[in-house]
Amino acid sequence: MRTKFIAGHWKMNLTKTSSIELARSIAKAIPNNVDVGIAPPFVYIDAVASAISGSKILLGAQDVFYESGGAFTGEICVPMLKDLGVRFCLSGHSERRHILNEPPELVSKKTHAIYSAGLIAIHCVGETLEQRDSNQTLNVIRAQLQELKPEIITDPARLVIAYEPVWAIGTGRVATEQQAQEVHAFIRQTIAQMWNPDFASRVRIQYGGSLKPENAKGLLSQPDVDGGLIGGASLKADSFLSIVKAAAELS
Ligand code: PGA
Repeated sequence: MRTKFIAGHWKMNLTKTSSIELARSIAKAIPNNVDVGIAPPFVYIDAVASAISGSKILLGAQDVFYESGGAFTGEICVPMLKDLGVRFCLSGHSERRHILNEPPELVSKKTHAIYSAGLIAIHCVGETLEQRDSNQTLNVIRAQLQELKPEIITDPARLVIAYEPVWAIGTGRVATEQQAQEVHAFIRQTIAQMWNPDFASRVRIQYGGSLKPENAKGLLSQPDVDGGLIGGASLKADSFLSIVKAAAELS
């Protein structure tokens, strides 16, 4: 049985004070039967780490550079994240792929650096509207999964795939339960081919893209949907916690 994993992805939002407040409110109310994480902006990670200390919330980061130190102006490395208590890190989010133009080779290096350092890597995949409309969805997802190297990633507990259709992120337009389940099942099947069926049955696959309290139960109850990566709705304690509660009730 895969424990559901709900991760709040704060993106480039909030202030130091509001980050601490939000983290404290979430820490007070999380259930035991769901994994809950939050990924603040880099500059607030340390403050948030103190705010949630002693709780079982997993601290996360939104991005990282793949080298482990050195002359890389402006970048942050995995050892720095570990130093602050970070447990998971995103890689390949569509905003980085499409706005920051991160190519597949860079995403691949980041995911492997995160995994190899002992953290949980959340590898994000998702098609644009144009790709969906031209029936390219499954090809795009397969190619993004092939950025992963089975010879490096051997522990299914530390690999999470986030399926985030680009057209559903921050748009209020959400994938239907059937659309989400179809792609999630395809992701699991592709992972089974790349690794093996047992490994695939243990990897958690999160849905992301306008996931909110109103649609959480329907999406999270799909057989291959093992949690959510939440942007907008993670910025308020009550909406984030109500998604967490929906996951807990299904667990
Ligand atoms: P959203 O973002 O929930 O605001 O659509 C999801 C994400 O980008 O992770």
